[in-house]
Amino acid sequence: MELKTSPEVGGMGHSIKRKEDPRFIRGKGTYVDDVQLPGMLYLDIVRSPHAHAKIVKIDPAKALAVKGVLAVITGKDLEKYNLHWMPTLMSDTQMVLPVEKVMYQAQEVAAVLATSRYAAADGAAAVEVQYEPLPVVVDPRKALEPGAPVLRTDKKDKKDNHIWHWEWGDKGATDRAFGEAAVTVKEDIYLPRIHVASIETCGCVAHFDKVNDKLTVWMTTQAPHAIRTVFALVAGHVGLAEHKIRIISPDIGGGFGGKVPVYPGYVIAVAASVLTGKPVKWIEDRMENLQADSFARDYHITAELAARTDGTLTALRIKTLADHGYTDAAANPSKFPAGLFHVCTGSYDLKAAHVEVDGAYTNKPPGGIAYRCSFRVTEAVHTIERMVDLMAHQLNIDPADFRMKNFVKPEQFPYKSALGWEYDSGNYGGALKKAMDTIGYADLRRDQAEKRKRGQLMGIGISSFTEIVGAGPSKHFDILGLKMFDSCEIRVHPTGKAIARFGTKSQGQGHETTYAQILAEELGIPAADIQVEEGDTDTAPYGLGTYASRSTPVAGAAAAVAARKVRDKARKIAAYLLEVAEDDLVWEPGKFSVKGAPNKSKTIQDIAFAAYTNHPQGMEAGLEAVSYYDPPNLTYPFGSYICVVDVDSGTGEVKVRRFVAIDDCGNIINPMIVQGQVHGGLTMGLAPALYEEISYDEIGNVQGGSFIDYLLPTAVETPKWETGHTVTPSPHHPLGAKGVGESATVGAPAAIANAVVDALWHLGVRHIDIPITPAKVWKLLREKGVTE
Ligand code: CDP
Repeated sequence: MELKTSPEVGGMGHSIKRKEDPRFIRGKGTYVDDVQLPGMLYLDIVRSPHAHAKIVKIDPAKALAVKGVLAVITGKDLEKYNLHWMPTLMSDTQMVLPVEKVMYQAQEVAAVLATSRYAAADGAAAVEVQYEPLPVVVDPRKALEPGAPVLRTDKKDKKDNHIWHWEWGDKGATDRAFGEAAVTVKEDIYLPRIHVASIETCGCVAHFDKVNDKLTVWMTTQAPHAIRTVFALVAGHVGLAEHKIRIISPDIGGGFGGKVPVYPGYVIAVAASVLTGKPVKWIEDRMENLQADSFARDYHITAELAARTDGTLTALRIKTLADHGYTDAAANPSKFPAGLFHVCTGSYDLKAAHVEVDGAYTNKPPGGIAYRCSFRVTEAVHTIERMVDLMAHQLNIDPADFRMKNFVKPEQFPYKSALGWEYDSGNYGGALKKAMDTIGYADLRRDQAEKRKRGQLMGIGISSFTEIVGAGPSKHFDILGLKMFDSCEIRVHPTGKAIARFGTKSQGQGHETTYAQILAEELGIPAADIQVEEGDTDTAPYGLGTYASRSTPVAGAAAAVAARKVRDKARKIAAYLLEVAEDDLVWEPGKFSVKGAPNKSKTIQDIAFAAYTNHPQGMEAGLEAVSYYDPPNLTYPFGSYICVVDVDSGTGEVKVRRFVAIDDCGNIINPMIVQGQVHGGLTMGLAPALYEEISYDEIGNVQGGSFIDYLLPTAVETPKWETGHTVTPSPHHPLGAKGVGESATVGAPAAIANAVVDALWHLGVRHIDIPITPAKVWKLLREKGVTE
């Protein structure tokens, strides 16, 4: 099913017309950096060249001599207000500015406030900092060795670098299943650090208005309400109460989870504005963004899979070491320190599973953000999809047949996984079959066999992933105690036009279009007559924001529920106007008519007008409703991707020849937007599979700190994506919809990696960690004796 209103609005999201707001430069743009306020000051940040060092002295003299520089702010200045540390979303602590030592290269050391951006930059370059280097710990395995230098010396009782241990599942049953297994496979899989590298970097304009005692912050945040609450909790003691804080999240140039955390720059800008009473702008540059903002992945995984000789999977066992950098600043729901990693049984009917994760501190920036991923689902999907492929190859069973045999079957839904999730709906075999038919799987296998005879390396990789999105049911999901509901508030004006506000925040996903479509479908008001707004805490109802593909499952559901409340009141008014009982009315989108007398009807516009001019005695005027939707379950989108690669045995280069992606996100609201989401997501899956990695040398120097070293795929490297879908509605979502934004990023890397290993399996290659660079493949080929 597709909602019928789509043609009316069609295209990608139209943005709120902020160009009409005089604070933005007219005609230039609608992003944070376009906010211009009179008397605005600029902030630039001094960053550490060392990964671990004591700060001996910060000398601001030369910086203060730069024309236009007003102040150099240090950790000691913030310490006076107890603002030098702040809490992370995982209830750890993070420095705003250091007082004693720095913990990673590019960490904030001091900030320079100036009358122009250029003066601030010159000032930052002129601040002199004396450091005393300390031993650096880069490898999380070494961080946990006895005798490793303890990094978090600020935590009085901390005697090691271990953050937490977390495990899930039935260890006894899993160990027993492995003991009895006829076949087992085991593999070390590393998912490297990567960065969201959104087009727009992070930044804010903080404006403390001393007359009204009110702080307004335009900022690049995916979760404005949660940020407001965090600011109030952190800075309440210096007089910032929640009702005196307004967070505005204007248009955002890509978030992907990287704009969920609070970064020190935001806090310093707020502090500087409160102290000076002037607006203060802080905008990161590209390298600061890449080197210092939160990272994703960095999971060292050891996985084992058990099966019977006939190829029936029986058990999964995983141990993981999570490198969190110097603080655990992941944006996971509090109950789940490893996010939703325990969806790692994937699409397969495994009877036993056990997973253990340990977090470790290292001298790196905070990691663990949910990069276009529902809290560690990418790590989970990559692991299970690699392992299933490994087992299929080991048993010499075609990977497609192997998956078909082990999938959770349609009749098993709702399906309780061995790790406790209740999958809402699915038809995994249907999606894989469609992908196989689309790509011509059998022909490709024949082609591969012939090519192999000629010494050519061709591989076919499958990834049949199950996603878990829509965090989440308040019973289990909160961030810093805030339950993960989301909201929609609708007001229908007397003339039948409407405004709808949401607790989420689009970063380019087109919410303005799709939310309007949902409301148009539910209320019969044309989508063009519905103004959708998000991202302003003074006007929008409270919500937890947009990340982890939660908008459709949670706020999209809130839209439907709020619209149905509006419709219930509209029915009462229509009954009054038509002088019939409510039960005698039939609804079709846009009007109520009397059963058996279709000419006797009232349109939603007539009813809206009556709600303000001629409503029944005893009824409150107006036509509006709000819903704070607490989802009964998560939604479980899924898909099957098939990738065909050719590997150049001379250079090691991998070329994606074809890539078919069949996605299932339940009922689709806007097919064009969904396709756009899948296209973007696939490119963001290709990126870590073949190109992207941020690594560090042994003294903590970042190796991927600019786009010269951090290789983003461009249109040149990106293959033609062949997309399609199946539709398996969610039984509990009011619209039958599931999220889609991250599916492709989650599912694609394993398809590519599996294709490359498939191409090289006959040479003895069993696994290659992503990114699968030409250098890695070339080296492997030489090791396996391939010469060309
Ligand atoms: O939370 P986020 O907006 O990133 O993710 P989402 O809920 O997966 O939605 C991404 C975009 O796709 C939104 O504009 C949705 O309304 C749209 N979508 C859709 O049209 N149909 C679906 N079944 C799911 C999402």
